[in-house]
Amino acid sequence: MDASTATQAADIVAALLFILSLAGLSQHRTSRSGVVFGICGMALALVATIVLAAHDISAGATVLILVAMVLGGAAGLWRARLVAMTQMPELIAILHSSVGVAAVLVGWNSYYEVEALGAAQTEVAADLLRIHHAEVLIGIFIGAVTFTGSLVAFLKLSARIKSRPLTLPGKNLLNLGALVAFLALTIWFTVTPGLGLMIAVTVLALALGWHLVASIGGGDMPVVVSMLNSYSGWAAAAAGFLLNNNLLIVTGALVGSSGAYLSYIMCKGMNRSFISVIAGGFGIEAPASGDAEQGEHHETTAEETAALLDGADSVIITPGYGMAVAQAQHPVAELTRVLRGRGVDVRFGVHPVAGRLPGHMNVLLAEAKVPYDVVLEMDEINDDFDRTSVVLVIGANDTVNPAAMDDPTSPIAGMPVLRVWEAEHVIVFKRSMASGYAGVQNPLFFRDNSRMLFGDAKQSVENILRDLGSHTSDAPPPPAGTATSPQPTTAAAPAD
Ligand code: TAP
Repeated sequence: MDASTATQAADIVAALLFILSLAGLSQHRTSRSGVVFGICGMALALVATIVLAAHDISAGATVLILVAMVLGGAAGLWRARLVAMTQMPELIAILHSSVGVAAVLVGWNSYYEVEALGAAQTEVAADLLRIHHAEVLIGIFIGAVTFTGSLVAFLKLSARIKSRPLTLPGKNLLNLGALVAFLALTIWFTVTPGLGLMIAVTVLALALGWHLVASIGGGDMPVVVSMLNSYSGWAAAAAGFLLNNNLLIVTGALVGSSGAYLSYIMCKGMNRSFISVIAGGFGIEAPASGDAEQGEHHETTAEETAALLDGADSVIITPGYGMAVAQAQHPVAELTRVLRGRGVDVRFGVHPVAGRLPGHMNVLLAEAKVPYDVVLEMDEINDDFDRTSVVLVIGANDTVNPAAMDDPTSPIAGMPVLRVWEAEHVIVFKRSMASGYAGVQNPLFFRDNSRMLFGDAKQSVENILRDLGSHTSDAPPPPAGTATSPQPTTAAAPAD
C-alpha cells in the first residue's frame, strides 16, 4: 500500500473515531470514552498528515510541521493546565480565533499558490478556476468573521470589555449590507481576481465578525460561543476544500453542524430566537431592568439550615456558577450522602445554562461522584418544587430568577428558569446581594420563604455538615431567619 492510500484509509478511520467521540460525549456515562475516541482520532490524523508530508513534499516540510506541532502542543498543554474550569468558555473562544486565522491564511496562500504556479501545475483544473477563486474568498470570509467574533467573545467573557450589547444605529442594515457587499465582491473576484479585492473582503469580514458579536449581550454569550464553535468548523471545512483534504472537510462539517445544533438547543433552553442571536442580536432590545434591590431580605445561618434539612422529607439542590467558583461540589456531594443516609429524598435540578459552559454543573457533580440518577434536567424536575420541603440554591442566580417569568422588561424575560420559589423553604448560598451574570436583581431573594446564607458556598456547606453532625432529628429546629437590612450591593461579578 502506498503512502497516499494508507493516509486515505487513516483519514476514514479518524473520521469514524470523531463521530464515535461525538456520540460518546452526548451522555454522562460514555463521555470518558468519547474523549478517548477523540484523542485517538486526532492522533491518527496528525500521524497521517506527517507521513503524507514526508512522502509528498520534502523532509524540510516535515521538520517544519513537527516544529509547529511541538510549539502548538506545548502552548496548548501550558494553557490547559493553568486554566480554571470557570475560564473554559474564554479559552474555547480564543482557540476558535486561531482556527479563524488559520482559515484566512490558508485562503490567501491557496490564492497565491495558484497565481504563482498557474492552474496547470496545481490540482485546480483550469475550468474550475473560478470555483476555486470563490472558495478562496468564502474561506477567508468565514475565517475572518470567526477570528474577530471569537476575539470579542473572549474579551467579553473574560470581562476585559463590557458585556452590554453594542447598539450602533441601523446595526441590522450594517450586517445585511456587509453580506451583500461580500456577495458582490466574490462575484467580481471570480471574474477578475486581485489583491485589492482579497484585502477588501478580509477587512469587511473582520469588521462584520467584530460587530456581530459586539452587538450581542452577555446573557446570550453561551449561544455565541457555541455558534463560533460552529463557524470555526465551517472555516476548517472551507480550508479543507482549498487544501484538498477530505479529513478536514469531514471534521469541519462535524464541528460546524454539531455546534449549530448545540446553539439551537441552547436558544430553546433560554427562549431566545436562534436567528436573532446568529444575526448579531437582530430584534433584541437593550435591557431595561437593573440590579437595584427590591425590598427586604432575610438571612439565615448554617446551624438553622442544618436543622431545617434534618427535618426535611425532600430536598432539591440547584447548583450554579458560584458552586464552580467556590469548588463546593465535594462538600455538596458529601451533604447529599449524609442526608440520603438519614432518609431524605435529595435530588439535583440542573438548568441547561447553569455555570459558564454547557454541562458545567454535570461535570462538577460527576467529578464529586454524585449518583447520575439523582441529577435531573430542568424539565424533569420543574413540576416537583411545589412538593419539596427545602431547596438549596448553591451559587445559582439567573437560572432561578422569577423575573424571567414575571417581568417582561427583564433582560432575561422568557428564559425558562427553575421554579425554586414554589418550594416550602428556599436557602440561597452566595456571598453578597450582587447580581448574577446577566446583571439583573433577583426578586427570589426578597420572597417570604427565601433565606440568604451569605459566605463562600464551600465554607457554608462544610459548616452545615459540621452542624448536621452534632444535630439529631429529635432536636427542635432553631427559629426561622431574622429580618435584616439590605446588604450593600456589590457590582455584578461575571469575571469570577
Ligand atoms: P449566575 O447568574 O452567574 O450567578 C452566580 C452566583 O454565584 C452569583 O450571584 C454570585 O453571587 C454567586 N457566587 C459567586 N462566587 C461564589 C462563591 N464563592 N460562593 C457562593 N456564591 C458565589 O449563575 P447561574 O445561575 O449558574 O447562571 C449562569 C449565567 O451565566 C446565565 O445568565 C447564563 O446565560 C450565563 N452563561 C452561561 C453559560 C453556559 S453555556 N452555561 C456560558 C456563559 C454565560 P455573589 O457574588 O454574591 O457570591
